[in-house]
Amino acid sequence: MKIILLGPPGAGKGTQAKALSENLNLPHISTGDILRQNVSGDTELGKNAKAYMEQGTLVPDALVTEMLAKRFDQPDIKDGFILDGYPRNIHQAKALDELLKERAITIDLVFYLETSEPVIIKRLSGRLVCAKCGVNFHITNMPPKVNGICDFCGGKLYQRTDDKEETIKRRLEVYKKEVASLISYYEQAGKLKRVPADEEAGIVLERLIKLAQDYHDSPKV
Ligand code: AP5
Repeated sequence: MKIILLGPPGAGKGTQAKALSENLNLPHISTGDILRQNVSGDTELGKNAKAYMEQGTLVPDALVTEMLAKRFDQPDIKDGFILDGYPRNIHQAKALDELLKERAITIDLVFYLETSEPVIIKRLSGRLVCAKCGVNFHITNMPPKVNGICDFCGGKLYQRTDDKEETIKRRLEVYKKEVASLISYYEQAGKLKRVPADEEAGIVLERLIKLAQDYHDSPKV
């Protein structure tokens, strides 16, 4: 199954994509994670992307699309994937259609995680990420068992540099400017599923799995 996760910063795209990827046994492709790996590895792409990410603005479409094209050339995506963080605007949605068409792939479902602003702010300002395996925690919502240490791999937890108040505001502005056209694009394609996502992660995951299961069981025309 080929699934896209859309939603504002802090909607839980990364959290749900990881859980769905385990549940459906599909690779999780996160453009944010790939960009952060490039920044910490000090690659050419990372050097170009760093300033945009720190300011909370989008990295230029061409750079991210080229990066994604390389990821789509890896064989593990043949049975499907969970795509998180792309597309971010209508240009990227059209570029994605082209990338997929060249590879004879079609998107099955687009989940739009609907989240309210107070919830977003609380989630992002308390987020902790494992430096080693990338799993997300939250200071109060999903605290680690041992302070500052990942439950799964023992890696150190850190706060993302773009989770500062000013940068969060900027990311939300960028998101709001682009989201409407993206939503209507996938609504018109008949692929969009709106999923309420203010509740705890387990409840949201159950909703997503149910929608994926219903799609899987439905007759295809
Ligand atoms: P990216 O990494 O994609 O960030 P984002 O879209 O801003 O989303 P986040 O990762 O902040 O939030 P999320 O929805 O994944 O929430 P999470 O699961 O972590 O992009 C970062 C930057 O890279 C961009 O600003 C841009 O510069 C660049 N970039 C990336 N893709 C790009 C593209 N396509 N084009 C151009 N530039 C691009 O959850 C957040 C917190 O809440 C966690 O602490 C988690 O534990 C907690 N939580 C999650 N769900 C729940 C729940 N249901 N209940 C309680 N707590 C929860």
